[in-house]
Amino acid sequence: MEYNIALVKGDGIGPEIVDSAVQVLEKIGARFGHRFHFAETLAGGCAIDALGVPLPEETVQTCLASDSVLLGAVGGPKWDSLPANLRPEKALLGLRHALGLYTNLRPAKIYDALRDACTLRPDIAARGFDLVIVRELTGGIYFGERGRREGKFGPEAYDTEAYSVMEVERIARVAFETARKRRKNVVSIDKANVLETSRLWRETVHRVAQDYPDVELSDMLVDNAAMQLVRDPGRFDVVVTSNMFGDILSDEASQITGSIGLLPSASLGEGSRGMYEPIHGSAPDIAGQNRANPLATILSAAMLLRYSLSRTAEADCVEQAVDAVLKDGWRTADILGGREGRALSCTEMTEKVLERI
Ligand code: IPM
Ligand code: MG
Repeated sequence: MEYNIALVKGDGIGPEIVDSAVQVLEKIGARFGHRFHFAETLAGGCAIDALGVPLPEETVQTCLASDSVLLGAVGGPKWDSLPANLRPEKALLGLRHALGLYTNLRPAKIYDALRDACTLRPDIAARGFDLVIVRELTGGIYFGERGRREGKFGPEAYDTEAYSVMEVERIARVAFETARKRRKNVVSIDKANVLETSRLWRETVHRVAQDYPDVELSDMLVDNAAMQLVRDPGRFDVVVTSNMFGDILSDEASQITGSIGLLPSASLGEGSRGMYEPIHGSAPDIAGQNRANPLATILSAAMLLRYSLSRTAEADCVEQAVDAVLKDGWRTADILGGREGRALSCTEMTEKVLERI
């Protein structure tokens, strides 16, 4: 088969880690008989520097014309003082919106080989966990009305959270469908003791649940969820939550796996086109030094093969290669922990994965 993949390398370590994932896709292509055509396009700080805007229209068009999008990371201190509508993050939000990617899947599991890197108590790490956060991605407070105004105490700012029944229904369905392919358990996270959007969220998720009698559903308040994630992460299978809560909880979930450098993500909409990216950022402190961990981006390419191209064997092959490399004891600096030995560079780690494929 032939596939068109848009590459948004972005800023900081983005170009290095996307190059690694491209090599992995090419290797998969050679082994399984596919051809990948890559179209590189600018977004984030590099687009601001080259074209004056974080998300050029041409980038949106290139992504829309592709089968899927692979993204590195955007942002960095250089662009931090720009006004909100010119910040690199605007590119991410704009792409999610323009491509209609309302679902964000963020799996977090602990690798056997990396239990010693887990920051939780050893008995909790030993029990293991394997969960996926289904985060709503194009609604809520991220996209609500916001502004500045004169308030009771003088000048003030506001952001608003709004959720329609339709938006909650469709993300709830994704969560239940995801659970059906896993351990059939959904925890819906909200703040229904305070927020009206959360009460609508809860009502709607329960209504959708009636179509999935084989899946167990429970509710959890977000503050409690933040605590349970570090107390007993093994109790979670599928977590479904709003844009903002999902943003926060997914960073927490990534940390307890031992390294944010290992976690991929998929953003999906109605069709098969998606956007795949590591959940970590652009790490400007190590950019250009060949020290980044490419595994989260390589695993994002595996998710691309699985979800957008329906290439299950190819996706399994990449994931098993990463597993094997970790079992063999190979580590980049971020997952070396207190171990003996030398950390691999980004390109060396990529080589190890290519050899395994
Ligand atoms: C993420 C990031 C983004 C978000 C930022 C960079 C806009 O934190 O993908 O989790 O908040 O969604
Ligand atoms: Mg985040």
